[in-house]
Amino acid sequence: MLKIRVFESEYDAGLYVAALVERVVQQTERPVLGLATGRTVLPFYEALVRLEHCGLDLSRSITINLDEYIGLEADHPQSYHRFMHEHLFRHVDIPASHIHIPNGAASNLVVECARYDDILSRYPIDFQLLGIGVNGHVGFNEPNDLLQSKTHVVNLTPDTIAHNAKFFPSLEEVPKSAITMGVQAILQAKQIVLMAFGEEKADIVARAIQGEVRTDIPASIVQLHRDVTIVLDEASARVLPGKKR
Ligand code: GLP
Repeated sequence: MLKIRVFESEYDAGLYVAALVERVVQQTERPVLGLATGRTVLPFYEALVRLEHCGLDLSRSITINLDEYIGLEADHPQSYHRFMHEHLFRHVDIPASHIHIPNGAASNLVVECARYDDILSRYPIDFQLLGIGVNGHVGFNEPNDLLQSKTHVVNLTPDTIAHNAKFFPSLEEVPKSAITMGVQAILQAKQIVLMAFGEEKADIVARAIQGEVRTDIPASIVQLHRDVTIVLDEASARVLPGKKR
């Protein structure tokens, strides 16, 4: 079933998603959390950190991130390693050995993708968090004629590169490729939560969750899953019928 929840504020949406994670963590002996990066998921990480400081025990959790830029060292200010450290891991008690993020600086990327798929086969995901790119990508599964099931190297589309440019000193420094989990691991998660905020996501959210399942809108794969919650604010829900206030 696909549920849609529309919140008045990003803050409220973050609290809601953190509460969903709390339930998974409390009901599961070894919870496996599939995590995402991006501005959208920040209110969720802030809420999760607050919950942990109020007593939620995350120390049994295993985390598996969706993706990472190729060519950035872990400590690069724009790497997803750094993002996760800044916004979650440095604040909470998750052992370093439980944290998994693709290594975009690996010398052999084929081996790195296989290493990641091995991790995914050992730790089936209980809760998968997703954002959505303005072009409909999930993780870095970009719009294409086909979607890859396994972890793979992807050439980022010109619009993704242009969109990411605001985070880098110059366009030349924006990574042109990434490692991303494929759609199989995402769809095998027990539960999926996709978050989107703001006017600029309104059209793609509507096309992803209402239209056909299409490889040129990778996020539309969530329609194939039986437990998906779409978490929106009023601006990103604007194009959905009956969701306008
Ligand atoms: C990046 C990430 C995606 C994320 C998307 C949206 O491209 N690879 O996982 O969903 O950005 O980011 P934002 O939330 O900043 O709009």
